[in-house]
Amino acid sequence: MSSRKVLVLDRVGALCSELRALELQDWDFLEVSSLDAARRALGSSEASVGLVVFDSVSSWGEREVEALISLHDIEWIAILGEGLLRTRAFPAGILRQFHDFHSMPIDRERLQFSLGHAYGKVRFCTRDSEVPHVSGRYGMTGSSPRMLQLYRQLEKVVTVDAPVLIGGESGSGKELVAHAIHQHSARGRGPFIAMNCGAIASSLIHSELFGYERGAFTGANQRKVGNIEAASGGVLFLDEIGDLPLDLQASFLRFLQEKVITRVGSTERVKVDVRVIAATHVDLARAVLEGKFRQDLYYRLNVLHLHVPPLRERKEDIPRLADAIFADNRHQKSSQVKGFSSEAIRAMVDHPWPGNVRELINRVQQAMIMSEHKLITAADLGLSVADAATAAPTLEELRSSIEREVIETSLRRHRNNVSETARQLGISRVTLYRMIDRLKIIL
Ligand SMILES: Nc1ncnc2c1ncn2[C@@H]1O[C@H](COP(=O)(O)OP(=O)(O)OP(=O)(O)O)[C@@H](O)[C@H]1O
Ligand SMILES: [Mg+2]
Repeated sequence: MSSRKVLVLDRVGALCSELRALELQDWDFLEVSSLDAARRALGSSEASVGLVVFDSVSSWGEREVEALISLHDIEWIAILGEGLLRTRAFPAGILRQFHDFHSMPIDRERLQFSLGHAYGKVRFCTRDSEVPHVSGRYGMTGSSPRMLQLYRQLEKVVTVDAPVLIGGESGSGKELVAHAIHQHSARGRGPFIAMNCGAIASSLIHSELFGYERGAFTGANQRKVGNIEAASGGVLFLDEIGDLPLDLQASFLRFLQEKVITRVGSTERVKVDVRVIAATHVDLARAVLEGKFRQDLYYRLNVLHLHVPPLRERKEDIPRLADAIFADNRHQKSSQVKGFSSEAIRAMVDHPWPGNVRELINRVQQAMIMSEHKLITAADLGLSVADAATAAPTLEELRSSIEREVIETSLRRHRNNVSETARQLGISRVTLYRMIDRLKIIL
């Protein structure tokens, strides 16, 4: 068994040698003599338990100790100098923050038990955040009704070979869906070639797609296989297909119809077997109406249509997604960060996520590195606490809902007789009518 690390905060520096003399097996003691050194050590070591030695009343500032031990997700045990508890000046309240306390001289058996118990508690409480959460299918996280619908559609799409058009807002997971189709279809062993039509200069798209022969134009020093040919036997994924220039749409349509390409500078016709998956964040049907996209190409690409829902339409997936992102990135986080506060989760569920899952990933990654808390806060995620506050009902809302419940029950009991209901509730008829009106109760 590897040794379990214990941080010992002791200004005098006598405890560590005493502990080592006790020969407690499997425990590794790391000694520091200042609060600053303790903070640094906690940032870099994997200690699960900390001991703080209080040997005189003035040894540590109460507030500073409290700040230190609330910062990290480790359990703390206080070691008190002999007779210290009996002195009135010792701030005994601080012991509430500790897992346990011991008085000098140390009882070996009891300390061993106490350390083991504290260590076990830390492991138990942090276990969840270390296990990657798998909830979803096709390499995607999510079990909301919208995602279940997408999985059902994918089940059908992977069994056939027709072109697919994937719609959905930016960052919602269109490329992930394209990968899923590739991996789970008969073409899974073939290549997956992705090309973003919006990111390539329009003058280059043709040769990127179809390739060219040596000497086809100035600078063509050697033959280049185009993306269509490179995807042979697999999938060609065309992201932002709406950005394909109109003249190229005609050439691409010809390829889709004939399954044959001609490299630039060549007359040879090469037969290519690829499945085309295209994605767009713009409404292609509207682009057709506006004359920006060829209708015939639209129909060729849109044989099978999938829509990836925006994150705000599958809010129930957000906590799971955030946990999965946390688990994926746990190797590059600030050491004390152990998970999300409930306030952070509420703020995430409430945020509208214009950048969808990609925005969620960015915010969580940033918070995992920059947070100075054990549990990531809404502010760490750059989300306003006001966002979080709107999720919880206000006192006024709670009061209204209780009043509505009580009045409706009483009205039912008295068959909507307002006089009897008012009498039972101990209010006047006028007050009851006002409340019925304010609470929008239907008689
Ligand atoms: N359901 C999901 N589960 C897990 N990760 C997801 C999910 N959806 C999206 N992601 C992740 O979110 C990020 C953005 O996804 P992706 O690139 O597929 O989005 P996109 O719709 O293609 O975005 P864009 O329109 O900007 O190209 C990726 O890192 C992807 O792995
Ligand atoms: Mg994309």
